[in-house]
Amino acid sequence: MRPGCCGDAWENMKSCLTYLGLLALVALVVAGIVLVPAYGILRHAKITVEDASLTRFALVKTPVTLIAYNLTLKLEIHNPNWAIGIKYDEPLVASYNFDGQPLDRVQVAGKGGKVGARRTAVYRVGSSSAGAGATLGSAGEAWFREQNATGVFEVAARLTGKFKYTARYTKCELVATCPLKLRLTPPGTMGVAGFERVTCTLDKAKKYC
Ligand SMILES: *[C@@H]1O[C@H](CO)[C@@H](O)[C@H](O)[C@H]1NC(C)=O
Ligand SMILES: *[C@@H]1O[C@H](CO)[C@@H](O)[C@H](O)[C@H]1NC(C)=O
Repeated sequence: MRPGCCGDAWENMKSCLTYLGLLALVALVVAGIVLVPAYGILRHAKITVEDASLTRFALVKTPVTLIAYNLTLKLEIHNPNWAIGIKYDEPLVASYNFDGQPLDRVQVAGKGGKVGARRTAVYRVGSSSAGAGATLGSAGEAWFREQNATGVFEVAARLTGKFKYTARYTKCELVATCPLKLRLTPPGTMGVAGFERVTCTLDKAKKYC
């Protein structure tokens, strides 16, 4: 027996195992650093109204007082996640509101629409009504005249829909509110009137969303 030989072999094996163990640990830590933020942490979408054009916003007197309007919005939905996509599980709908009265509901994107990881989806949403919109009472009419005098109308846009994140089962609700100040402009002048980008406020997401 030459203890030196076996002892060396054992020592070699031990340092080899230690080395492998360290390597595995480093790999785990690196995987954690990369994968947890990429797949484990959800970041909420950012929704902005980049541009808007309001070419008509007028009172129409039928027996009741209605608003006739033509409105187009350029809407952006940004998905900030590194590796997780968003897919609409129900159509994404925008509804407009003037003085608490609903004006219209328009589809922004259909069911199955997607916003990939780190992508921004751009939607151009047009709607017009010859007077089927809000029914204003006398207070609403006074509010209209006041804003009409300044040429700027306050219209709230509300986005609603349902979506899922890639590889997740939870159906998440999307509710965002975008307070808009719209200046009446001649037709075909989108972007000229100096519309300031509006960041929409997201309702608090439920668990796992
Ligand atoms: C408003 O929209 C209607 C229908 O799309 C169109 O016929 C009309 O010319 C538009 N008016 C203005 C002022 O943009
Ligand atoms: C709104 O303003 C426009 C232009 O200033 C004016 O022609 C129109 O009569 C006003 N409408 C109402 C209902 O006050």
